[in-house]
Amino acid sequence: MGEKIVIFDTTLRDGEQSPGASMNVEEKLRVAKQLEKLNVDVIEAGFPMASDGDFEAVEAISKAIEGCEIAALARADITDIDRAWGAVRYAKRPRIHTFIATSDIHLRHKLKKTREQVLEDVVRAVSHAKGYTENVEFSTEDATRSDLEYLCRVIEVAIEAGATTINIPDTVGYTIPSEFSRIIRTIKERVPNIDKATISVHCHNDLGLAVANSLAAIESGARQAECTINGIGERAGNASLEEIVMTIRVRKDLLDFYTDIHTEQIFPVSRLVSTITGMVVQPNKAVVGTNAFAHEAGIHQDGILKEKTTYEIMTPESVGIPKSSLVLGKHSGRHAFREKLGELGYELSSAELDVAFKRFKKVADQKKVVYDEDIMTIVEDEIFRVPDKYKLININVQSGTVTIPTATVQMEVDGKLVQDAGFGDGPVDAALKTIQHITNSKSRLVRFAVAAITGGTDAQGEVTVGIEEDGQTTIGQGASTDIIIASAKAYINALNKLEYRKKRLQGL
Ligand code: KIV
Ligand code: ZN
Repeated sequence: MGEKIVIFDTTLRDGEQSPGASMNVEEKLRVAKQLEKLNVDVIEAGFPMASDGDFEAVEAISKAIEGCEIAALARADITDIDRAWGAVRYAKRPRIHTFIATSDIHLRHKLKKTREQVLEDVVRAVSHAKGYTENVEFSTEDATRSDLEYLCRVIEVAIEAGATTINIPDTVGYTIPSEFSRIIRTIKERVPNIDKATISVHCHNDLGLAVANSLAAIESGARQAECTINGIGERAGNASLEEIVMTIRVRKDLLDFYTDIHTEQIFPVSRLVSTITGMVVQPNKAVVGTNAFAHEAGIHQDGILKEKTTYEIMTPESVGIPKSSLVLGKHSGRHAFREKLGELGYELSSAELDVAFKRFKKVADQKKVVYDEDIMTIVEDEIFRVPDKYKLININVQSGTVTIPTATVQMEVDGKLVQDAGFGDGPVDAALKTIQHITNSKSRLVRFAVAAITGGTDAQGEVTVGIEEDGQTTIGQGASTDIIIASAKAYINALNKLEYRKKRLQGL
């Protein structure tokens, strides 16, 4: 079985730093609950100094989650650490994660500090955090571009001051596996008190090597891996949790380690993160992409039918992909629907179930078969929406080769019926412009993406819309068998989220 690798999930902190991936407090709580089911060891819930929203999310997650350690990030700065503790102190097992850069590039250009000054900051910060909790992690930002001798000195000093986990980030995704192995081995050899701390790694994916580098570090002595669901994160993202975990599991013949991850929860959490952030998982993404278990070539299909292991190194069920993708139809009843929801990781109250079931019946009337993906979209659409200021009542759009695309839209704004009509460059443009006119929104569209959730011309289309106003970005989603309706719903969802966020910022 070998040694345990601690899985530190930073989807809610580094993952949320992906451009456009911001989540509100409720959404973060939903992801945290799913991460608890996945059984990650540590959830990094946010960076409380970064914003009031981050503070609130860390506090809420600390209060709600009991099965995982909760970490809060702070710069190596007293005010930051106080703020982090203020949010994470409610956790059953809190962790303060403090960091400072150690590379000369960062010291010279960003921090404008000498190496000696940084050493002093490390001691001050770690000792201060230690005053709050035994569980202190210290990160040497940009470690892989730091002078190795200095890096070892910083680590030694941090452990002396009380750090129990030392994280070695490849902040800019610069290292390669052989070099990273050497760095970890050198730290183990040269830092005299290294046995008093767990070595952690945190790899970014700028050269597509984040998972390979993390695994190389584990083979060289790291015992904690920092990672995110679907590999989301700053720039090209972080090491993907599902890839690290499944490699350790599938190649246990070579990697004498284990994790406590409940791997059958991987797919539900991947889908949830993708839905909430609007970051679509690429079809050929390892482990969780829609093509990850699809066999196209005749020779492969023949092999799979004869013996699965010919072309499958892990089963779809082992990562939580439901056995068959074709399940419910218009004759399916409430009982089967509830069972399916359970399989997909949803626990709904009976009132919520009523709402979702009604919509399911509508979809089932329009489509011959209702796939798992359709059901997940129905639940997201009907149940987990933010309180609506704007509601779509009716929409009609005319377009064609000779008609100027025209939309007539009826909406409820704060419960009052409002209607308008407008033109556009195409049917979607006409619909969105008319909605913008009705809501008087000053926001601008920063993202528009359409995906067919399932195959066939009767597929449900899922539209993702990103809008921005005064530096606030929100992502909205909408689904329908009609792409214009899906677009209108997605846009209205983004507008509702924006209104909701504005209210929260005003403390309402
Ligand atoms: O990439 C990085 O260096 C980080 C640290 C804050 C751990 O995210
Ligand atoms: Zn990072």
